[in-house]
Amino acid sequence: MPIPAYLYDKIASSITKLIEEGTYRPGDRIPSIRKMSKQQGVSVSTILQAYLVLENRGIIEARPQAGYFVRIPEFDRLPEPERSSPSADPSHVGLHQLMMIMLRDALDPNLVQLGAAMPNIEFLPTKRLNRITSRLARQSGEEAHQYEIPPGLKELRLQIAKRSLRYGCHFSPDDIIITSGGVEAIDLCLNTVCNPGDIVAIESPMYFGTLQTLEVRGLRTLEIPTHQRDGMDLDALRFAIKQNKIKAILVISNFNNPLGSCIPDEKKKELAALAATYQIPIIENDVSGELYFADKRPSTIKAYDEAGLVMLCSSFSKDISPALRVGWVAAGQYKSEIEWRKFTANAATATLPQMVIAEFLESGGYDYHLRQLRREYARNVKLLSQAVKNYFPPETRVSRPTGGFVLWVQLPGKIDALDLYKVALENDITITPGHLFSPTNQFSNFIRLNAAVWTLPIERAVEKLGEILYGMMGIERG
Ligand SMILES: Cc1ncc(COP(=O)(O)O)c(C=O)c1O
Repeated sequence: MPIPAYLYDKIASSITKLIEEGTYRPGDRIPSIRKMSKQQGVSVSTILQAYLVLENRGIIEARPQAGYFVRIPEFDRLPEPERSSPSADPSHVGLHQLMMIMLRDALDPNLVQLGAAMPNIEFLPTKRLNRITSRLARQSGEEAHQYEIPPGLKELRLQIAKRSLRYGCHFSPDDIIITSGGVEAIDLCLNTVCNPGDIVAIESPMYFGTLQTLEVRGLRTLEIPTHQRDGMDLDALRFAIKQNKIKAILVISNFNNPLGSCIPDEKKKELAALAATYQIPIIENDVSGELYFADKRPSTIKAYDEAGLVMLCSSFSKDISPALRVGWVAAGQYKSEIEWRKFTANAATATLPQMVIAEFLESGGYDYHLRQLRREYARNVKLLSQAVKNYFPPETRVSRPTGGFVLWVQLPGKIDALDLYKVALENDITITPGHLFSPTNQFSNFIRLNAAVWTLPIERAVEKLGEILYGMMGIERG
């Protein structure tokens, strides 16, 4: 190695060494220029020069308003999963036993959790929320203990309405009904527009929590082929509408769980128009809409809804706190009926959590928090994709989500995801088998991996899964 001539070169070499030795791992933030200048006892401009050298060598990268990070090397990506091709016949859902087993695993602290799509608690603003909660509890007197009957806390509805321009809507507080999480919002919508036995068109694959709601309500599903990038196939949907009496269309418009798909604007518009032509309500699930990795928040189908047929459902479970259980729905022409059903279901959403979220949004901390959250998830999704590429057999296929924090993995060969699940569990690792995401078992050779958390034990677990897969295929790792 040549002897560094200048001080900045020397500092750049020391940082490179720290990275090579693993003190700073890909994606880690390195000390700010000011901090490093203090640590090293040299001028700010020397450090600036050193960081410039490292940037030019592709070792670190500057991210606006965030600092300097160790670059995650580019890697040859695995191919993407194939598009689904489900049956054109409606079916009943029957998956709850398998799902309850998975939920039990998700709570076991002895397992490496790659299965349940839980947010990374370390990325959530828990300290801030706790401070707001205790202050509100101290100061609010009786207010926090009174029913906040539907449509829910005015201040919270106002905050939600204020943000609606960002995704193409212009709600007033009166358009919003607060619910206990996104799941309740979706359930209320289904209940409003469907009766047992009715057919609901869904994406294939579809988040299993919603499949459970459909099962409990005795509804039938018609799975529509769905592209891993741009969502539901609208020609297939149009065909299905002509062949069947579809009572509702249920879609995750932005960052489908598990697929990661995000419906482009033009297609959102087309979907809204299709619903209007056939007068079919759309239940739009947008719980992950804020978790985009690009520069701009994706819009919603609701933004193009002139007929009031779209019920936009969301919650704060993925980006503020899943435990506060606060969600909402903007229900268009179904608003009064949903408000009434919300009241008959459980009278009201708990008041204090609504107050806490309203204050968090009002205080202006939300956008700053979201910027950090998106950065962390983008990084972790990339690192997990790379680990899958490194450790899994080369015929594996992986989704390329542009938001959210799950990966959808198509296994090589004819490997059954439930077999992999069992062996993984014997090795203290949980994964979610694809079986759960289709009522007609379209995805028995897929798994969903949670990318929210990235740690060394997680990386080791991915390596182990790769080893198990090679073993199941009876081949040596190359
Ligand atoms: C697509 C999707 N919808 C809804 C939910 C549940 O939302 P909530 O916890 O707000 O009820 C989840 C949670 O995993 C989800 O992934």
